[in-house]
Amino acid sequence: MEQGGNVIHFISKIENIDFKESLEILAEKAGITLPILENGIDSKKQLLKEKLYEINKEAALYYHQTLYKDISKPAQEYVKKRKLDNKTLKTYTIGYAPINSNLYKILKEKGFTDEEILASNLVNKVGNNFIDRFKNRLIFPIQDVRDRYIAFGGRVLDNSLPKYINSPENIVYSKARNLYGLNVAKKLKLEKLIIVEGYMDVVSLHQRGIENVVASCGTALTEAQGRLLRKYAEKIIISYDSDAAGQAATLRGLEILASLRCDIRILQMDGAKDPDEYIIKYGNGKFNNLVDKAISLIEFKTKVLKKDLDLNNVNDKIKFLNEIAKLVSTVDNKIEQEVYIDKISMEYNISKEAIYAEINKLNYSRNQGKKTLESSYTRNNIIKKKKVLPDALLKRENMIIGILLEGKLEVYEQIKNILSPEDFKKEENNKIMQKLYEEFEKGNSNINNILEIFNDDENIISILTEIMANDYEIKNDKKAIEDLINNYKKEKLTNRKKEIIDSLNNKEIDKQEEISLEKELQDIILELAQIK
Ligand code: CTP
Ligand code: MN
Repeated sequence: MEQGGNVIHFISKIENIDFKESLEILAEKAGITLPILENGIDSKKQLLKEKLYEINKEAALYYHQTLYKDISKPAQEYVKKRKLDNKTLKTYTIGYAPINSNLYKILKEKGFTDEEILASNLVNKVGNNFIDRFKNRLIFPIQDVRDRYIAFGGRVLDNSLPKYINSPENIVYSKARNLYGLNVAKKLKLEKLIIVEGYMDVVSLHQRGIENVVASCGTALTEAQGRLLRKYAEKIIISYDSDAAGQAATLRGLEILASLRCDIRILQMDGAKDPDEYIIKYGNGKFNNLVDKAISLIEFKTKVLKKDLDLNNVNDKIKFLNEIAKLVSTVDNKIEQEVYIDKISMEYNISKEAIYAEINKLNYSRNQGKKTLESSYTRNNIIKKKKVLPDALLKRENMIIGILLEGKLEVYEQIKNILSPEDFKKEENNKIMQKLYEEFEKGNSNINNILEIFNDDENIISILTEIMANDYEIKNDKKAIEDLINNYKKEKLTNRKKEIIDSLNNKEIDKQEEISLEKELQDIILELAQIK
């Protein structure tokens, strides 16, 4: 496998972007202009992507400039009411889509085709008319970490519904992989990054000096976003809205971030519904205090737990102790555990001894549980060990995936005649093969987007990256594939041979079937002889 691929795939993984983009970044660093490859589907898609970035940029600038025009009085008043200053409007290219906005006309004049304009989703075709998606809305363009305009959110200027409409996902916009404001925030050296729910929270905090802030745009945090956050900051502070929905979203986001082993803190806010309202009301200093006082995952969960319980009630108190013990015992580090126990004991006025006693009880019953489970398992002999796959087989599977990842259609044709995804014994490899086959069948010989396809599956991504990074020392592609395929063929034929012999021996089969099985057996024996 070529060495160059490794670096590029490594970058794709780290930067959370696709193969082409990694190439571009490398080229940019080296000061090289990449040729646009004219090899079919993929380069066509690439060209369209480039067009969409251009269209989005034109649109963002058009909306932004419009905001300053006389026709945009309502928007100007609204912006003033929300206390956004001019610098903020510029930093985030905030704009206004007027009531009679006609982007189609503007984009046509710039030379874009109908196909391109429609692909941007900024304009819809209704009958023979081209209608803007955004009208009479304040516009928040969404940019990726490379400052490219990829999507838009539009807010009404009053209380009507829906409050926001957003761009749908398309070839340049994946909601799950981007965070609003990260392009601005990443320009700083970040020790911590604050994640909020809304566009307004980002721009409002930024304007008041809290510049390390991004938004997940009102949806549950995804793993890809978690990885992005982790990439840019050591510490992540969740500062979602203080309402129930915001708190539920906090919990969900926490699980994702915790599973990515991020250092997380949760900011607790009273007296305002969201960070925007808070900082306007109480100012930057108070908000920074909240950041400093942000609590850990364990403390947050304890708080959530406490909400529904009355600690003066004995039953509730027992339940509380019980749950706390479970929570605290998830912390591996004993010293850290002690710190939590101290804090909880002080805050909820529960003796440390009671908490320790509960944890000990828990540990004891866990160990007991393990023992009884183990003995009953062994007694009944029902331990189902995870099948251990031989190294050679895994290596073979990895090699084939590695070879397919080079995207050669003729190689795929050769392989698919012999192998189906189900032949792959490792579960993840099986999944990867299924997708690879699907992509090849679509005629997508450029399977560089395979990492994108498995976007949310951290496990598969790391298996793929490992395969990509591995040099299997294949000197001769063709020979290697033949060998690999022959191995599989042999295995398959041998299995089938066994099956046939079993059927011929054991089952009551009619004459007709016997004849055909015998014929098949002969063929198999011949074929096996040829391979050997
Ligand atoms: N959102 C959305 N569609 C909606 C409501 C919300 O996409 N109908 C997303 C937006 O990204 C929004 C975020 O969820 O920024 C948070 O929602 P909300 O708190 O209601 O909006 P804010 O941005 O805080 O706006 P405002 O302060 O004007 O209410
Ligand atoms: Mn809000």
